[in-house]
Amino acid sequence: MVPSAADFARAVELLLAGELVGLPTETVYGLGADAANPAAVAKIFAAKGRPADHPLIVHVAGHDAVDQWAEQVPAVAWELMETFWPGPLTLILKKQAWVPDAVTGGQETVGLRVPGHPVALELLRRFAAARPGAAAGIAAPSANRFGRISPTTAAHVAEELGDAVPLILDGGACAVGIESTIIDCSRGEPVVLRPGHISPQHLEAVLGRVPAIEISHGAPRVSGSLEAHYAPLTPLRLVAGERLLDFLNAQRHRGGKCAVISPNQPPQAGMPHVWRLLPADPVGYAHDLYAALRDMDHAGVDLIVVESLPTGAEWAAVADRLRRAAAGSGGA
Ligand code: TXA
Ligand code: MG
Repeated sequence: MVPSAADFARAVELLLAGELVGLPTETVYGLGADAANPAAVAKIFAAKGRPADHPLIVHVAGHDAVDQWAEQVPAVAWELMETFWPGPLTLILKKQAWVPDAVTGGQETVGLRVPGHPVALELLRRFAAARPGAAAGIAAPSANRFGRISPTTAAHVAEELGDAVPLILDGGACAVGIESTIIDCSRGEPVVLRPGHISPQHLEAVLGRVPAIEISHGAPRVSGSLEAHYAPLTPLRLVAGERLLDFLNAQRHRGGKCAVISPNQPPQAGMPHVWRLLPADPVGYAHDLYAALRDMDHAGVDLIVVESLPTGAEWAAVADRLRRAAAGSGGA
């Protein structure tokens, strides 16, 4: 499971040569390239089939690297870094002039994150050591094809991208399971662009207030904000718990085979459908969600039925992913 010194050496060699490397982070697996090399970054977009105006997150080894990539970093951003890095938080900051448009999608800002996974950190440190004095960052989106389910194991990356990636470092299953929380600190008051593992209460404790959430729909500012995303090829429907039994019975009468993803036990014994029980807390649910969606996509069913989640703020991150998965499912 733990990559060898030779694996790390080869990964650094590939990055220096402008090639791609699959790497584990604590959130999801990333598809990495040298963020200072536009030709290398272009390979990420080609491998994913991702539109070129979608900005990428630059992963760095530590706080020290921030000033190489960003300028006018506000005090609140440093506080967030102190509290949450290494960890599942991406900060959007005003970029240094030299940062390639290939990374930022031509925007004036750059997304930065110090990931909280030992393999990612080791790779970032070795990459930085290989280029003393230069800005060393790894641009890495989630290592899935555009619009599809993010990978949470090395095997998922191979399944998504196969031959397009010469090396995938295996760091085991991701601890968090959904993508990082993104906070825009580039325009005054911090604004959450993508909810994630970090709870609203924890953010409130650091910021002194619950930050505004601004999830845009359709604009390429945050690619995760496109309506259709995180999606299985099998059609996916969200169904409220109180309607679930009727819904499944109706499907059965029509001869439709369903896979159900739910934090609750089946309402009846002997359900003819595949039932995937997920943890009933938001953190555990997030951890298992993408692997469950991927499994159910391979289960040979006509429909994936996901029981709707509670509306509380602590469920916002997974509810957001599921809404988009439903919008993009069925190969739409
Ligand atoms: O957990 C994660 O964030 C994972 C791991 C690999 O670090 N990465 C990830 O990358 O989810 P990706 O590309 O799938 O999603 C990154 C999001 C995109 O929605 C992108 O639009 C947004 O970050 N982003 C990056 N730079 C930005 C910027 N300058 N302004 C606004 N949004 C930005
Ligand atoms: Mg993604």
